[in-house]
Amino acid sequence: MELIDAINKRQSNRKYKNAPVEIEKIMQCIDAARLAPSANNAQEWKFVVVQKPELLKEVQSAAAFMGMNGFAKGVPAFVAVVTEKTKAINNVDIVLHGKDYKQMDIGLAIANFCLRAADLGLGTCIMGWFNEGKIKQLLQVPRRRKIWLMLAVGYPDDVQREKYRKSLKEISSVDKY
Ligand SMILES: Cc1cc2nc3c(=O)[nH]c(=O)nc-3n(C[C@H](O)[C@H](O)[C@H](O)COP(=O)(O)O)c2cc1C
Repeated sequence: MELIDAINKRQSNRKYKNAPVEIEKIMQCIDAARLAPSANNAQEWKFVVVQKPELLKEVQSAAAFMGMNGFAKGVPAFVAVVTEKTKAINNVDIVLHGKDYKQMDIGLAIANFCLRAADLGLGTCIMGWFNEGKIKQLLQVPRRRKIWLMLAVGYPDDVQREKYRKSLKEISSVDKY
């Protein structure tokens, strides 16, 4: 698939077919995420795949949290995006410029993940709202680590929507702000 086609095809899928996702395909998505750039090549990320049926059920419940993200109950696979310990050199930028690159880095990695998923015919939804404490416990994530996002993954069963975005004119300019 052409890159621009994958960019257009990717959307937040909130309805999935009742079909399991091949672990090999998820690993291909993680492999694409792995190749993303990161500040000082720190790669401060870990992707934890949830597939085992009993565990999946519990994660689905914890991902549908406080009346939000009810669709999570029908998600056939999840990938928890965990940030690892900050690389020492990146701490310098946090102290000097207030820039913590970690969130940017995982954003770039996740973009690769989602685009590769679209390329493989899979749907995804990036989720920032979930019961982090519960999912950390279920996936045995160390207390000091953070699950920034959960990625819902599956074969999509919703329609391809039109994208609502600000116009190119609104978000860009040349030579002047
Ligand atoms: C960091 C981040 C967190 C998000 N959290 C959620 C979420 O908790 N639940 C949800 O349904 N969508 C979530 N989304 C999806 C956005 O709502 C979605 O990307 C946006 O509305 C644009 O729609 P599209 O992805 O279909 O193009 C999140 C997206 C990002 C990038």
